[in-house]
Amino acid sequence: MSNSIVEEFYAMEYGPAPEDPKEVERWLDAHKRSFGNYIDGAWQKPASGEYFATNNPATGDKIADVAQADAADVDAAVQAARKALPAWQALTGHQRARYLYALARQVQKHSRRLAVLETIDNGKPIRESRDIDIPLVARHFYHHAGWAQLLESEFPGYTACGVVGQIIPWNFPLLMFAWKVAPALAAGNTVVIKPAEYTPLTALALAELADEIGLPPGVLNVINGDGRTGALLVEHDDIDKIAFTGSTEVGRIIRKATAGSTKKLSLELGGKSPFIVFDDADMDSAVEGLVDGIWFNQGQVCCAGSRLLVQERIAEAFYAKARARMETLRVGSPLDKSVDIGAIVAPVQLERIRALVDQGVADGATCWQPQSTMPQKGLYFPPTLLTGVHPTATVAQEEIFGPVLAAMTFRTPSEAIELANNTTYGLAASIWSENINVALDVASQVKAGVVWVNSTNLFDASCGFGGYRESGYGREGGREGMYEYLEPAWGHERAKQKRPAKAASTKEDDANANVSDTIDRTVKQYIGGKQARPDSGYSFPVYSSDGRVLGEAPLGNRKDIRNAVEAAHKAEKWAKTAAHTRAQILYYIAENLIQRRSEITSKLAEMVGKDQASSEVECSIDRIFTYAAWADKYDGSVHNPPMRNVTLAMNEAIGTIGIICPTEAPLLGFFSLVMPAIAAGNVVIVVPSEKYATLMGDLYQVFDTSDLPGGVVNIVAGRPSELAKTLAEHDDVDAIWCFRDPADATLVKAASVGNLKQVWTNDKYEIDWFDSNQNDGRYFMRHATQIKNIWVPYGE
Ligand code: NAI
Repeated sequence: MSNSIVEEFYAMEYGPAPEDPKEVERWLDAHKRSFGNYIDGAWQKPASGEYFATNNPATGDKIADVAQADAADVDAAVQAARKALPAWQALTGHQRARYLYALARQVQKHSRRLAVLETIDNGKPIRESRDIDIPLVARHFYHHAGWAQLLESEFPGYTACGVVGQIIPWNFPLLMFAWKVAPALAAGNTVVIKPAEYTPLTALALAELADEIGLPPGVLNVINGDGRTGALLVEHDDIDKIAFTGSTEVGRIIRKATAGSTKKLSLELGGKSPFIVFDDADMDSAVEGLVDGIWFNQGQVCCAGSRLLVQERIAEAFYAKARARMETLRVGSPLDKSVDIGAIVAPVQLERIRALVDQGVADGATCWQPQSTMPQKGLYFPPTLLTGVHPTATVAQEEIFGPVLAAMTFRTPSEAIELANNTTYGLAASIWSENINVALDVASQVKAGVVWVNSTNLFDASCGFGGYRESGYGREGGREGMYEYLEPAWGHERAKQKRPAKAASTKEDDANANVSDTIDRTVKQYIGGKQARPDSGYSFPVYSSDGRVLGEAPLGNRKDIRNAVEAAHKAEKWAKTAAHTRAQILYYIAENLIQRRSEITSKLAEMVGKDQASSEVECSIDRIFTYAAWADKYDGSVHNPPMRNVTLAMNEAIGTIGIICPTEAPLLGFFSLVMPAIAAGNVVIVVPSEKYATLMGDLYQVFDTSDLPGGVVNIVAGRPSELAKTLAEHDDVDAIWCFRDPADATLVKAASVGNLKQVWTNDKYEIDWFDSNQNDGRYFMRHATQIKNIWVPYGE
């Protein structure tokens, strides 16, 4: 009897459960299946008269024509946004919150229509657009209504960037729209957004809803088109910030295109995220996790768990379970409510998936696909498991963006970490183990912006999302996401360097005021805690303010930078040194600077004059204390998203940072940048201003006597622009801070595209190094860290 029930159960067939698309058909018909651009609160025809078709990937049928915006349309949209900016910024946070709240309500009221429209345009199963995408869209607007409300109290001293250009991809069309638009508007920016050409319709539907709630004209503008329109938006002179989500390749193009401007930039790019299963994992849960990790949204997910790393002992058993589960996945019409895997967004994407799978097999992987029936018409690809993949194979390294899992095995946790980090990306990771100690230890070592423990692909507006390494920079969601759309208010003032009055001098200072023993000194590079002769064998003279030669500084070159980067890498365990210890060492540096205060002041006085010299030294001591204080206080936070878990937002060091020092305050600029970097656990290669390079000889003596491990601070003098370019091009440098002139800022931004390192420059505004408000600590510590969100579930 029980046997026959079981047999019955497995023999049961799914009947069709189609979602009714009539409401959406009516909406499309009401628009005559033709959409213009939404500019300045009105639907506008494209200046060129050119339209493109958006198709239903499940059927191949055309859904509607959509305007292709050209330069005139982009310009009109940017102008509308500029015009709307003052009135939008003049509103109170509460008033902006009301608009965002109204948008959230509209999304909820029209959720079914938006879900069906999304599914028709994109091909994703209705189950996902209805239960995941659209609820998360509403949640994002609600959450950011909250940030708008709290803006003045939670972000004092910050102001909106201005007019923001946003470019989004096709895999989560409306969700990415919400991720971009909600924080931008909450912070008081106005927006020009370009949806992806394959999936423009839900963004247009949302623009219509924004219109209905009376969002002021010009605050939100939606322009359509392909990459050409995106490029026009990126290059427009009157844009203050670009936010992009899409491929790493286009991310690089955008970084280069914005290099010569002061546009702020955030990039959310591709990934090749590991899905790590340890032998003590709950295997059934992990297999269910895989379904969400790689077969969710047909695998067209930037953070998809596309590399399966399984501990060797359980690999075959785990693959067997995964294959059995794959047999039950239903591929079919996305509008069918019981379908798991829908259509691939476009023919070109389907071709790419096919080609990459073929390549995987040619490279030696074994390909397995279930026997399930596939629809005859439309763009479908079956769930696919590639086993025996070599870690360096194309399918293990390149983003496939399809329902394809590349599996590898490992033996030990350290091997798992090595494999996990063996890509150029760093977006996400999923770790499966019943041993919380192992899971959290691995989480701390994986280079990824988001880590899910015993879970995967969880998202919430309160938890930041974004990558490490070539997965881009900047975060979306949470407090950190808001900072992407804000700038320090003093930034707009283009502050002139104020020279504070001379600090009270000590007797000792006065006694030493005329001492100058630098004339015959030749300073060396400082690499790995040791003095090193420059590779070039050359040096250059450094002059006093009245033209006397003060000494010789080494002329660093490419090789010196390479050596310094190598030394810095060897010192990276500094990040794991207890924050308390880092603080102690920073205090010790201050103490040693105090010891040598009069000598350094008098040397500096020859270069910048007595008043500035003593101010710089006194402020430097204060600044080192500030970052010694911050070293053990710049904590992360714990988020409480509406799932059964906590999310630990950890502030982690970025890694190796190249720092190009400012000329206007040689000593204070040096400490103001180097101290937050090392307080946060980074290791640095510092290029001092060539005008003051001999001063560095005194600094390495300060470091040498302060217990600072060799290699944490490396100093390479030479021609700063040349060394900046070398550092910016170096693939083992994770970030570059360049505080010289705009030409150098352009140079390092353009040269940073190789590994897409984070770039921080002062080309938009100068920092007044003497102003403790500007050097408030948090602003610098934020630049010195990147946030990793670790999701930890609770409950059985
Ligand atoms: P894409 O990066 O070309 O497109 C994303 C957006 O950028 C679209 O709105 C597009 O119109 C725009 N765009 C394209 N070229 C541009 C340019 N030069 N300047 C400004 N905007 C530009 O991605 P695509 O071609 O649709 O997909 C190719 C591959 O990229 C996928 O197979 C996948 O591997 C990856 N991808 C990753 C995404 C992610 O979320 N990380 C999203 C979409 C694609």
